[in-house]
Amino acid sequence: MAENDSTPSARDEDAVIQGHNYDGIREYDNPMPGWWLWILWGTILWSPLYILGVHFLDVIPTYEEDLASSQAEIVQIREAYEAANPAFQATPETLAQYVGNQDQIDAGAALFATNCAACHRPDGGGLIGPNLTDEYWIHGGTDVDIFNVISAGVISKGMAPWGPILSAEARAQLVAFVRSLEGTSPPDAMAPQGDPVTADTDDV
Ligand code: HEC
Repeated sequence: MAENDSTPSARDEDAVIQGHNYDGIREYDNPMPGWWLWILWGTILWSPLYILGVHFLDVIPTYEEDLASSQAEIVQIREAYEAANPAFQATPETLAQYVGNQDQIDAGAALFATNCAACHRPDGGGLIGPNLTDEYWIHGGTDVDIFNVISAGVISKGMAPWGPILSAEARAQLVAFVRSLEGTSPPDAMAPQGDPVTADTDDV
């Protein structure tokens, strides 16, 4: 390309060019940007202070001390979280807060439709699995019994254990939904199986 006076760089090239010449490749003597030099000098000045602080004055924690204190902080956060959110206990009292609560029943209905309806029918009338709408229960009809059979399943009969699949809260929502089915008498429901659970033997 021919030399052109109208190039954007109006500076005197010879003044800023360095003496270096590598096979015709030359370089400008551009100073390093100020911020870059400040960082360079800053880190150089900081290094002896750091060595003093860590190894002699003991005012800067070492890597190991820093790690130990962060881990202690994690343990503290975890303990505080566990204290504020105790693990779910399937007691009659906790399950009673789900049973009859419309929001929990609705949540349980959605879970039932996806996970359970194929065997128990969407309305709970029973198909491969027994009728869940009557007051007869093979494995007991208290809230805790229902929670336990949902959690542990009845593997020999083809009812999967849902404990490893659904959270305890989801299973409690399913208990709420199953309880809400009682007495709905859907058409063509399966005949009762198991023993009747009446208000006397029920825990709610
Ligand atoms: C693959 C089919 C299948 C699926 C899916 C299934 N179940 Fe079952 N379920 C069964 C069978 C079969 C039984 C009967 C077990 C027995 O005879 O002991 C049963 C039993 C039960 C019982 C005990 C009934 C009683 O009379 O004691 C409950 C409660 C129950 N299921 C709830 C659920 C819920 C809730 C889900 C979804 C999370 C679910 N099941 C998914 C097949 C299934």
